[in-house]
Amino acid sequence: MWVKYEGNNPTGSYKDRMVAGVLAAKIARGELKEGDRICEYTGGSTGTSLAFASSILGLKFTAVTSNAFAQNKLESMRAFGAELVLVESEDSRLTPELFEELRITTMRMVEEEQVHYFDQFASPDVRPSYKGIGSEIVSEIGPEIDVYCAAVGTGGSLMGSRDGLFAAGAKPKVIALEPEQSPRLTRGHGGGHKIDGVALGFVPPFLDMNLIDESRALDQELAFETCRRLAREEGILAGSSTGLNVAAALEIASELGPGKRVVTIACDNGMKYFGGVPFSSR
Ligand SMILES: Cc1ncc(COP(=O)(O)O)c(C=O)c1O
Repeated sequence: MWVKYEGNNPTGSYKDRMVAGVLAAKIARGELKEGDRICEYTGGSTGTSLAFASSILGLKFTAVTSNAFAQNKLESMRAFGAELVLVESEDSRLTPELFEELRITTMRMVEEEQVHYFDQFASPDVRPSYKGIGSEIVSEIGPEIDVYCAAVGTGGSLMGSRDGLFAAGAKPKVIALEPEQSPRLTRGHGGGHKIDGVALGFVPPFLDMNLIDESRALDQELAFETCRRLAREEGILAGSSTGLNVAAALEIASELGPGKRVVTIACDNGMKYFGGVPFSSR
């Protein structure tokens, strides 16, 4: 079993790849210029990448977000100069209703103000920005990969890294993951859960079910426990979506038995999760 570690990106998340790719394409097409304000609803990983890149590129950034996400992600966005619009979640759970409210708040802002909607859910530049993950995996371990599995939020990272794997000659079975607490892909309905960035309550826009071999749900508590084990047993500090990915990869690897290769991804480093799940209770 292999884990592609993405925590060494500038803000500690694979979202840096996506934000760099999408902003570069928008600037090249003349859709964005210095001084413009961009806006996005985000749990704070994309938001931190956007806040970081905006500060370098002379852009302004408004994040529509919520207290339901890791507090340190909100602080990271603020530290890079982002303006935050907060939508309250009563019990800090991530629910389909919360994502809908974040979306509506963002759309209202885009209609009423002079802001550019970044659109991580539909921009055609999102999926290709992740291709490098797939080619880097193959250049490190070769193309013999039996399964590639990862949890989905927008689905951009799973599909893009899958594209990169196939372009580099690998042909793994591709498995989309979600928490059991929000089993949209496996049982057709969303629910409240506590894994930042994934399982938004709808079928992710980038997820092409024709290219997905299986969807699988795992208990979020197992994901949290796997995060703690990763830190204590492997020295890998990562967030809760990574815990879900690694827990699933372990499960799949034990089903397949010896002689097979299962690959997954560590989406980010765990620094932004201190003070909340999975490293202390909230
Ligand atoms: C921590 C974390 N893990 C996983 C994901 C899912 O990535 P994607 O939106 O590419 O499916 C996200 C997305 O926001 C995230 O923030």
